Amino acid sequence: MTAPARTRTSAELIEAEEPVLAHNYHPLPVVVSGAEGTWVEDVEGRRYLDMLAGYSALNFGHRHPALIEAAHRQLDRLTLTSRAFHNDKLAGFAERLAALTGQDMVLPMNTGAEAVESGIKVARKWAYEVKGVPADRATIVVAADNFHGRTTTIVSFSTDETARSGFGPFTPGFKVVPYNDLAALEAAVDETTAAVLIEPIQGEAGVIIPDEGYLTGVRELTRRAGCLFVADEIQSGLGRTGRTLAVEHEGVVPDVLLLGKALGGGIVPVSAVVGSRDVLGVLRPGEHGSTFGGNPLAAAVGTAVVELLETGEFQRRAEELGTVLREGLSELVGKGVVGFRARGLWAGVDVDPAIGTGREISERLMREGVLAKDTHGSTIRLAPPLTITEEELRSALGSLEKALAG
Ligand SMILES: Cc1ncc(COP(=O)(O)O)c(C=O)c1O
Repeated sequence: MTAPARTRTSAELIEAEEPVLAHNYHPLPVVVSGAEGTWVEDVEGRRYLDMLAGYSALNFGHRHPALIEAAHRQLDRLTLTSRAFHNDKLAGFAERLAALTGQDMVLPMNTGAEAVESGIKVARKWAYEVKGVPADRATIVVAADNFHGRTTTIVSFSTDETARSGFGPFTPGFKVVPYNDLAALEAAVDETTAAVLIEPIQGEAGVIIPDEGYLTGVRELTRRAGCLFVADEIQSGLGRTGRTLAVEHEGVVPDVLLLGKALGGGIVPVSAVVGSRDVLGVLRPGEHGSTFGGNPLAAAVGTAVVELLETGEFQRRAEELGTVLREGLSELVGKGVVGFRARGLWAGVDVDPAIGTGREISERLMREGVLAKDTHGSTIRLAPPLTITEEELRSALGSLEKALAG
């Protein structure tokens, strides 16, 4: 009789990954094996407060009961048809998502990068068919320090050398201007411009919030120039900033929204391009697609996500607890924090490099029982599930204070 396989320890599992997994990530040394709500548990049973929430893919926390129930219900009926056939969940998902975001039509995809790629294709096609840009001349204006994903076209207009280097040749047709600079944007837009593609708040860059008026300016400028405003709300959207969409802080309605991450409820990858009929209407059968895009499981979970957002509860929580987060971080300025930017339950915290790198602080936080992740050297990004309680948030801030103290 063979002995039952022994469960491997965290250290053994981390070591086992080394020879068999591509090294495109440098995770914190924690091996998560279970989670509920705002908490995750590692292989040894240690519990951690999740202050990253899957980079906002877990806005509703881990295994939110309504989302798990929607997924289970759908798993028992129908999971995949491909778009060769209709499925009974897709129309409802598109109707609800369009209504939630104030748009007309939905193009369902899976990952965020696919939504961005799809948005680029749609904008180019719109430029040729509606705007009348000569063939193959369309340009898209983007912002420096952007993060829109990892495909070859998307890294073509990244300004992060680590993301680009070694992956050329690159896709042409993009112009990069500084973020939060309307004059530079104005100078870059011309008759070949199909779209301006920006993040309303730059997440990966360190939660960079543009000046009040920037998004309004982008809206006015793109309207005047006769090009599209495409807002990548993949990380900023769906409740994170205290609104359904971050553009709502300025009451702006872009022509095209790119959504992902939380749209899949932390269960399945679900993304979407959402836009006006004038724009998404340019696509005809055979011109774009995805085997898994709009599958019934994704549509059922996505619909349940939209239902949660329709209540307004998560946006409200993000707004209210955002005040606690900002106040807590203000108290840490001068105690290891040199500055921070925050909106809703989302913050980029710049730590004093003399105290440690972002990575070192994240590791200390992990030892304090809190999971967060550094970005760009000395910035730590905080983005807890929107279900976090005030007590948990205060406790996470206390742990941050301890981690900063060494
Ligand atoms: C603003 C933004 N766009 C696009 C993406 C890419 O999404 P995915 O990793 O699902 O391809 C991300 C991921 O972090 C993002 O933050």
